[in-house]
Amino acid sequence: MVNAGIGKFAADSQEQPNGRRAPLVMPENLRTAIYGGIAAPMLHYADKYGLFAELITRGPAASESTARRLGLDPDTTQRLLIVLSAFGVVVRCDDDAFGVPAQIVPFVDPKDPNYIGGFVTHMVDDARSRLERIEQYLVKGKPLPCEEQGVGYSYVYRDEDSTAAFFQAMWAVSFGVSKELAQLAQLEDCHRLIDVGGANGPFAVSALLLFPALSAVVFDLPQAGSYLNRSRQIFGLQDRLDFVGGDFFQDPLPQGDVIALGYVLSNWPDDRCLSILRRAYDALEPGGRVLVMDRLFDDTLDGPVDTAVMNLLMHVETYGRHRSAAQFRDLLADAGFTGCQVVRSAGDKHLVIGHKGD
Ligand SMILES: C[S@@+](CC[C@H](N)C(=O)[O-])C[C@H]1O[C@@H](n2cnc3c(N)ncnc32)[C@H](O)[C@@H]1O
Repeated sequence: MVNAGIGKFAADSQEQPNGRRAPLVMPENLRTAIYGGIAAPMLHYADKYGLFAELITRGPAASESTARRLGLDPDTTQRLLIVLSAFGVVVRCDDDAFGVPAQIVPFVDPKDPNYIGGFVTHMVDDARSRLERIEQYLVKGKPLPCEEQGVGYSYVYRDEDSTAAFFQAMWAVSFGVSKELAQLAQLEDCHRLIDVGGANGPFAVSALLLFPALSAVVFDLPQAGSYLNRSRQIFGLQDRLDFVGGDFFQDPLPQGDVIALGYVLSNWPDDRCLSILRRAYDALEPGGRVLVMDRLFDDTLDGPVDTAVMNLLMHVETYGRHRSAAQFRDLLADAGFTGCQVVRSAGDKHLVIGHKGD
């Protein structure tokens, strides 16, 4: 039977040979989908109130003494740690002692370059409240850009706090993987990188640290300027990293032999992506290449789960979507790029390279 296990046939399949029905058990993936929504805010609180930092610095400790040291309520701290332990983010070492597993540490240690605290804060504080719009979109469709409040970059940069939180989130989500992406991009033969929509420079900084002969320009909206400046100072890159403020739909891009577009095309629909890619093509020196760095849907557009979730978030936060490698190949070809290559990283941000002919 073709439909076995789907819809009403699933109930039939519970029937046993003796004619009795087996107790219906909720499948693990459904339970994760229901209860998983609670995990992200708890992860955020553990980060915000210093639980991860404390357990990493001092090593495994009882929830009560940890709570006391941090001035938190012991009962609530213990319940929160039990949830994180059920999700495998912390482990119970003995009795009431909790610790952070080695493979989790780099991502939750505020001192580690792979720290994702800023991104989790963005998901919990900002993105989740905007997800409420999904109900309105479901019923009435998404309003046109000109009619909608709270979507796009004028909303992201609405005040100092939200601007700072956004750049912190961008750094958190991109700096860790950028070293690998810069390696995969093999920029040994390049001299001038233009990081379009490069924000506070997670990719440009990684590329400059890896390739000493390279110089770079971050091209972004003017609001990014002071944040990029801070990165230049922190990494001592004042001589090799410049900022040009502008709008990539209106202004010509600075010229270079390699152009990066990290998490940029996923903010826009196809026609706007084409306009950005055509400008990138024009700004590239002959023989140059464009590096599209983004999440990739698998070919059937079903997953992976983080791309599926972020594709929904893109819907409420931007005018964009996530795409498969084939969809990026088509966009690059339409903009004039040839010899498209897809290079996957070990993480969730991958590389699609397009070449401009000599
Ligand atoms: C999602 S962030 C990506 C940041 C960074 N490239 C990364 O991979 O983490 C998109 C960036 O595009 C910039 N951006 C958005 N609209 C723009 C426009 N019209 N012109 C120039 N930059 C723009 C934003 O300011 C933001 O820094």
